[in-house]
Amino acid sequence: MCGIIGITSNKPVSSSILNSLKKLEYRGYDSAGIATINDGLINEVKCQGRVDVLEKNISQINLLGNVGIGHVRWATHGIPSTINAHPHSTERISVVHNGIIENSVDLKKLLINKGHKFKSQTDTEVIVHLLVEYLKNNKLNESIIKTLNDLDGSFALGIIFKDMPELIIGARRGSPLAVGYGPNENYLGSDSYALKSMTNKITYLNDGEFCIIKKKDIDFFDSKGKKVNKKILHLSSSDQNYEKGEYKHFMAKEIDEQPITIKNCINEYIDKINNEINLHNFPWKKDEIKSIKLIGCGTAFHSCLVGKYWFEQLTNLDVQVDIASEFRYRKNKFNEDCLYIFISQSGETADTYAALNLCNKNNMKTCSIVNVVESSIARDSKFVLPIHCGPEIGVASTKAFLGQMLVIYLLCVKISFFKGDINKHKYIEKIKNLKLLSDLVNKTISAENKIQLICNTFADAKGSMFLGRGYSYPIALEGALKLKELAYIHAEGYPAGEMKHGPLALIEDGMPVVVIAPKDEHYKKTISNMQEVIARGAKVLLITNKEDNQVVSENIWQKIEIENIENDLYPFLVTIPLQKLAYYTALKKGYDIDKPRNLAKSVTVE
Ligand code: G6P
Repeated sequence: MCGIIGITSNKPVSSSILNSLKKLEYRGYDSAGIATINDGLINEVKCQGRVDVLEKNISQINLLGNVGIGHVRWATHGIPSTINAHPHSTERISVVHNGIIENSVDLKKLLINKGHKFKSQTDTEVIVHLLVEYLKNNKLNESIIKTLNDLDGSFALGIIFKDMPELIIGARRGSPLAVGYGPNENYLGSDSYALKSMTNKITYLNDGEFCIIKKKDIDFFDSKGKKVNKKILHLSSSDQNYEKGEYKHFMAKEIDEQPITIKNCINEYIDKINNEINLHNFPWKKDEIKSIKLIGCGTAFHSCLVGKYWFEQLTNLDVQVDIASEFRYRKNKFNEDCLYIFISQSGETADTYAALNLCNKNNMKTCSIVNVVESSIARDSKFVLPIHCGPEIGVASTKAFLGQMLVIYLLCVKISFFKGDINKHKYIEKIKNLKLLSDLVNKTISAENKIQLICNTFADAKGSMFLGRGYSYPIALEGALKLKELAYIHAEGYPAGEMKHGPLALIEDGMPVVVIAPKDEHYKKTISNMQEVIARGAKVLLITNKEDNQVVSENIWQKIEIENIENDLYPFLVTIPLQKLAYYTALKKGYDIDKPRNLAKSVTVE
């Protein structure tokens, strides 16, 4: 949420900053801006909208300067506009910020009383004025520490100074921040992704730390100003995965990548010769885990919900699921026999990270399932299980959802065997079935179906519902979320058996309703619920598997058939038509699929 980049170099930096901002756009795209120092002046260029607008504006001037900062914004305080775009500058200081300053109103009042004049409605601008104030009587480091101490809330900051034109300050509390090391230049970025095209040598700031970045060296300090030594990490992954290639959208590419990412993940965790799931260095003994708590946000929360069904089905453990933003503020009864599992594609979601920190503070067993292994959540968990999906750029999660479910399932099957809840025979059978998954996902993706035709009805609909029972209920929630996120259509996911307790009143003639009913133990009941909505005029799209002849149902508007697979694994297959439904409906409506309105991929504010 908001992207930050900073470069100090011996050559002009504006074009490299622009390139990095394009990569960071998935974090926010309400406005963009850049500031450089040249000839003893801070030059600022900002615009409402996307980085390509900023690029056009910059192409009309010659934005020089060997030191600069850039920003893409996801608006929190103040509407998306040029004036509220970052950087926020005075004549001497320019600041970019990710996060929220919770006491900005009070600070602003104090600063106005001291004669400061504000231009924007943002919370960020107070940081600039606080620094101006402290620098009157203090040296740089003291001014930084005093400013940061005055701020409540979360922040990652990049700051440049007219009078110290060689350096950039980076500081973090709550929001992630990394520095990168280059040849005769150094960098600051909200994540390593922004820096990867320039360097693979990265250091992450810890909470409370700040740094002074010069083109040849970087110094790190703790919150009291004491120098700290930091490790340099060498990142390996190539830049290729960050390109769309021949695809029109990242989302289409990421949907198609699912068979391969599943295969990669299975290769990482399954020893195919010995038919064994390997969770290398899993730190807890079998008797130490008596319950499970799965915590996440958005799509990751839906994978937690699917996990609950699996753990309940395959183990004797008590399993609870929580939305991170609720969990972190509740009066939780912490339980030392519980394994707390945090699911997050980015590994930076502020609420999930805060929930993890809360559990760590209470000395709980914490494990994370993430895509970005260098992320804050991965670094601060006691055990990490990566999903091995490669970068996911489309804001709406697709391949990461399948990856999260897969790793939860692997963990569940392993724990179930390790605690003696399933026997060796069943364990091996489950592993064998998992080995089929990639091919079946591939067949489901390539299957000829009428989805592009079907989505015409969804595109014209005022609203729709997604129904399922058992594992298919969280998948219904995910299908509805995808349609909301991408096609801006009101969509509700519901347990099929709950319709008669209220939502049935919403069904009217012609309303498209998706019924997810693979041939599992819930099939017949779901089909009965489907009849109830058909009887009230709904146009039902039934997603089921090929052998659905158990119950013959008339009046179904459309049917999509998926491959047959073991009951546990249907969530992987039934998700795919739902991803495509959202994709093609949004495409038909002409919306920006990879960057839906009002959203961002990495939600680093609460
Ligand atoms: C945002 C994204 C969703 C994602 C959620 C949680 O809302 O748009 O796609 O599911 O954040 O993100 P995480 O990175 O924690 O999985």
